[in-house]
This record gives sequence, structure tokens and C-alpha cells, in this order.
Amino acid sequence: MTLKISVIGTGYLGATHAACMSHLGFEVVGVDIDPAKIASLAAGTIPFYEPGLQELLQSELATGRLSFSSDLSAISDCDVHFICVGTPQVADGLAADLTYVFSSLNAIAPIIKPGSLVVGKSTVPVGTAAKMREQLLAINPDTDLAWNPEFLREGFAVEDTLKPNRLVVGVTNSKTEEILRQVYAKNLAEETPWVVADLPTAELVKVSANAFLATKISFINAMAEICEAAGGDVTVLAKAIGYDPRIGNRFLQAGIGFGGGCLPKDLRAFIARSKELGADQALEFLRDIDSINLRARTRMIELVRKDLSEDLRGKKIAVLGAAFKPDSDDVRDSPALDISAQIQAAGATVTVHDPKAISNAQKRFPALNYSDSIEECVKEADLVLHLTEWKLYREIDPVQLHSLVAQPIMIDGRNALDRDKWRAAGWKFRALGRSEN
Ligand code: UGA
Repeated sequence: MTLKISVIGTGYLGATHAACMSHLGFEVVGVDIDPAKIASLAAGTIPFYEPGLQELLQSELATGRLSFSSDLSAISDCDVHFICVGTPQVADGLAADLTYVFSSLNAIAPIIKPGSLVVGKSTVPVGTAAKMREQLLAINPDTDLAWNPEFLREGFAVEDTLKPNRLVVGVTNSKTEEILRQVYAKNLAEETPWVVADLPTAELVKVSANAFLATKISFINAMAEICEAAGGDVTVLAKAIGYDPRIGNRFLQAGIGFGGGCLPKDLRAFIARSKELGADQALEFLRDIDSINLRARTRMIELVRKDLSEDLRGKKIAVLGAAFKPDSDDVRDSPALDISAQIQAAGATVTVHDPKAISNAQKRFPALNYSDSIEECVKEADLVLHLTEWKLYREIDPVQLHSLVAQPIMIDGRNALDRDKWRAAGWKFRALGRSEN
């Protein structure tokens, strides 16, 4: 018998998971409390930018296996229910807001059929899964709950979901593991590593992985600060240490640091949870990781002042990039927009370009100027900032851009542009963590 799957919450994670589960051959229904989101997905349009997802969504809808509904009862005959709702940072502290995970659990608990399995995918503080399982069993004893954290990266969401580098399942008994083995049979046949854990370990794997990634980025940004002070070059340093396979060369790109809807809030929620557990000393260092990350944004603004003038009033600044990273239209906690807004607040006129994220950026920062043409964005600019490393910015001809700006000064906040090429075209070129020569 083929399992029937439901996906509760069809945001970034849920929409991708629903389309990918359908691609694996399951009958899938996605539900969400936002009717506009459901209508859009049912019509084959994803309400955000993610390479390859729209095509996959449309081809899966055409098979008839995948459907979307704003009526929760559509899930009642499913065997496995994936909870994919958001866990944002609370407004008044560091912790994660668990409102949506518990409200969705309480909504589905009374209506799911006996023998069905609820699987949490959202990123939650350790201890949440056990609490949810207890609540679920109190309402519907003939069901169960497992945890299956998600490691997908924006920009690679489809690839990461269909071909994950590992699958982690938090279970309390072998029966639930067996159901999850059926769900992921195709990945298991491809020898994807399968890690079986208890519920708290499965929850911790996710937050510790993100904490480690954040630490790696802040480590190299701390080295960037040292390089600036000592006259070194962080890009050469990163390359050199990365040859050691124990260190590895990925996630060592120094610049304006990490942002997005995951790394910053997961780091803070982890700190908050460690305090509740009485183990806050163990994660004290993550506060520094967060500070180093935010300091990278300040250092960028200091560089602007150094290269332009202490007083930014009346200066015209062009910003290339608004998304928190390339191949995404996500601007949540985007370092690029944070820097742009701070420069604007200091009196400069800031115009931002981005190939995909302008409309999201406009909603969050309506006071900034936006342009959908690079040429128009940089026109008469006193300084250009490269803040999100989209491929199209690496393809810019610095000679051509030189003729448009008022002053040819480029600051590369992502260490992604070819410094020699820009300098050869007559630009004054600066980057975080690199000495001036
Ligand atoms: C991150 C994790 O990489 C995923 O494994 C995880 O599943 C996801 O969070 C999540 O929790 O859902 P994502 O937020 O898509 O994925 O973005 P990353 O690729 O991790 O990049 C995060 C930020 O770090 C970006 O702002 C990026 O520009 C920055 N970054 C990344 C650097 O500054 N330097 C680097 O070397 C790498």
C-alpha cells in the first residue's frame, strides 16, 4: 500500500517538501491557514523565488498526485503528516515562537486517523517534540509522533530535499522508524546516510548544525577583522586553511555575514533554550558568534565612511544586492538591507538593485530607493557596494560601469568580485578583511 502524505504549512519548507514527496510517487495534500498561499500553489505558482521549484510544482500537479487545500479535513485519510510551519523569533526576546507548531498539532490531533504518524520538520527548541508527542497521544492515543529535521538551503531546496546528504529521524519505537523508512525508501536505496536518534537528539542535530555553520562564518569574519588590523588578506587565509580537510574550504567566505530566516534566529533560540536547561555556559560563545556577525555590518559602514567621508549626508550610494544570499528573494534579516538602511539613516541617498528581491525589500524598507537596472542604480553614484553575491554582479564589466558613476569606488562586501579586474578598470576597490594593496 502506498502511503498518503499530508504537509501542514506550505511556506518555503512545506511547499518544497510537498512537491518533492509527490515526485517520489506519494499522493500528497498540502494545507495552510493562508488561503492566498494555497490558491497560488494549487494554480502552480510558488509565492517566492526558488530555482526549479515552480517547474516541479507544475509537473507534480499535472500527475494528479499533488493537491493543496485550505480545508484541514483534507488530511484526515493521510497516513503521515509532516508539520512544516514556521518558528520565528519572538518579538520580545531570543526564543523561538512555538505558537504555530502547537496550534497546528492541536488542530490535526483530533482528526487524523488511527495508526497515522505525525512527523515534525520545523526547527524547534529541544524538548518540544516530546511535549508535542505527549499532547498528541492524550488527544489521539492510537497515533504517534516522530522528528525529522530538515537541512535544506534556500536556492538549493529541491536538490537538498530530493538528494539530502543525510536523513535524521528522531523516534521512540521501531514501528515509527519503519514508516519513515517507507517514506524515504528511494533515498535509502541510494544509500543516503540514515541516522536514527531519540527525539531530543534529532531536534539538537538541526540547531547544532546551524550553530556550527554560523560559527564557521563568524570565525572567518573574526579573522577578517584581524587581517584588517594586521594588513593581511582574509581571502588568501581562508583558501590556505581550507586545504586542510579537517577544516574544509566551504562556508569560509568572509564578508558582511549571515542573515536569513534560519541561522540568526536558530542561534538565538538555541542560546535561550540552553539557559532554560541550566546549560547556558556551554553556549556562551554563541553570543560572540552573533556579535561578530552583526559587527561585520558595522565594519562595512565604517569602510564606507573611510572611503567617502565621515559625513554621509548628500552622498549617493548604489547597493548591488538586497536578498540575504544569492538565488533567493528572501530578505529576512538581510545584511545587505540592514546596511543599506543604516547608510540611508546617516543621510545618504541609497539605491538598491537586486534581480529577484526588490518587491520583498520594498515591503520591509519602503524608504530606500530601488532600481531594476544595474546601470540606473549606479548612475552618478559616489560609491558602489556589492552586498549579495549574485552571479550577474560578477559578470559586470567594470569598464562600462566606470563611465556611469560619479566616483569609481567599489566596496565588495562578499569578497566575490575580481579585485584585479576592477582595479585595472580604474576603480578604487576595497573589501572586508583585505588590506588596501
Ligand atoms: C541554512 C542552512 O545552511 C541549512 O542547512 C538549513 O537547513 C537552513 O539554514 C534552515 O535552517 O532551514 P539558508 O538559510 O538557506 O540555510 O542559508 P545558508 O546557505 O546557510 O546561508 C546563510 C547566510 O550565511 C547567508 O546570508 C550567506 O550569505 C551567509 N554566508 C554563507 C556567508 O556569509 N559566508 C559563507 O561562507 C557562507
